[in-house]
Amino acid sequence: MSERTGLYERLREYARTDYYPMHMPGHKRNSELCGDILPYSMDITEIDGFDNLHLPEGILKEAMERAANVFGAEQTYFLVNGSTCGLLAGISACTNPGDRILMARNCHKAVYHAVYIRQLRPVYLCPEEVPEFGICGGIDPEQVREALRRYPDVKLIVITSPTYEGVISEVEAIAQIAHEAGAVLLVDEAHGAHLGFGHGFPESAIRLGADIVVQSVHKTLPSPTQTALLHVCRRKAKSPEQECGDGIGMSFEERKARVKRFLGIYQSSSPSYLLMAGIDRCVELIKERGDELFAAWRERLLWFSSQTRGLRRIRILKEEEMRRGDGFDPSKLVLSVRGTGKSGEWLYERLLLDYHIQPEMASGDYVICMTGLGDTSAGMERLAAALQELDSVLEHTEDTPDKPPYDPNADMAHRSCARILVPEQYSWEMPEPGTETERLALPDCAERVSVEYIYLYPPGIPLVVPGERLTKELLLELSEYKRGGLALRGMEDESGEYLNVRRQ
Ligand SMILES: Cc1ncc(COP(=O)(O)O)c(C=O)c1O
Repeated sequence: MSERTGLYERLREYARTDYYPMHMPGHKRNSELCGDILPYSMDITEIDGFDNLHLPEGILKEAMERAANVFGAEQTYFLVNGSTCGLLAGISACTNPGDRILMARNCHKAVYHAVYIRQLRPVYLCPEEVPEFGICGGIDPEQVREALRRYPDVKLIVITSPTYEGVISEVEAIAQIAHEAGAVLLVDEAHGAHLGFGHGFPESAIRLGADIVVQSVHKTLPSPTQTALLHVCRRKAKSPEQECGDGIGMSFEERKARVKRFLGIYQSSSPSYLLMAGIDRCVELIKERGDELFAAWRERLLWFSSQTRGLRRIRILKEEEMRRGDGFDPSKLVLSVRGTGKSGEWLYERLLLDYHIQPEMASGDYVICMTGLGDTSAGMERLAAALQELDSVLEHTEDTPDKPPYDPNADMAHRSCARILVPEQYSWEMPEPGTETERLALPDCAERVSVEYIYLYPPGIPLVVPGERLTKELLLELSEYKRGGLALRGMEDESGEYLNVRRQ
């Protein structure tokens, strides 16, 4: 072996430091809880005795049945390409090219990619803002009802619940409205694989009537990065005579078969056995020790809450802030410095540089710290102590922050729906470069229609979707994000200076 320091050596080195992970994956590098897998000796392919993910008949079929059982779904599929491939497959399975779908405007980019690949016609559901924190709230069921009344041909509804910040929509009510209209409800529960196991955590969409639920087990549970689950749920029959899952344009069996077909397209043909073993171990752990582990996690959160209740300047998002009807996932710690003259980036840097606590992300005037089943009490104590110290040096001020406030989520909640073109006017096919489009410097794009995405990552929610018109206000905000050190992504020009727009 050479002396070079490649990725592997960097990872080994990092593992020896005292940085505490307040980010995904949910195992939190806790080898005491998960053990340390030695990859090479166990890294195989579809050899005899180890089944085939795309044609499961043996050990993988049993593992997926075990997962379905533990999570309370009718049918569960292992995903090795994250929730991303689950969303692509689930949406593709429930639609045909050209179908109309209803989707929350704050969906992850994977949902937009599915819309693009399947050439769907999206109608957007716009979440309201959670005041004070400037983040997207849940989707109002009445908005869904109204949209379905206006667009009775909608085949599929896609919402994100919980959101990155932990906001939970009224899934049960939305599912009922969807089903009455003959539509399928897919819930992107990427951030909620830990829901539905009690101990003060909210119920999962699996048990609230959603038809397809996609969960990233790697985000909050002890499972390796990239691992996720797709659950196909069977409707509860209203009467013994009524066949479950029928009456929605696609029966349960048909939905299941189509999901399997599309997973065969979007999943790798060489799925990693190490990743699949990671999912199976996570399922086993929940089955064997779930009660004890979820109770301990909840205890740690309650303890953290009691320790941080007295903070004067840093505000932590709580259930009470939610719009009536919305719920909140207590595992998410959204730490706001609004009104202190500091930005989210400031808090992020202080936690990282001064306390060796690595947050999940910074945005506008808040930071997200993600907790997970693999957290330790010592980790939570370090975060609480750091926040107490930082809080004591913060002042209340009406001044503008050190850096301009960049807040993609607030923008989403406020304005994006107003600037969206009527979906039918936009073809998702890429226009011929240079003939129908031109490349302009961002400041010159006012009132022009973008043919590209613009987003920040994280959270990966598009600020601009192809077909949307760029307002002056939005362009100003984009330049503020850049000035604040955030990189604009999604554009062909990786520097984020130029955008392809429609020719006028
Ligand atoms: C809401 C949401 N959905 C889907 C995804 C994609 O999940 P994965 O990274 O497991 O592919 C993410 C990723 O951050 C997300 O935040």
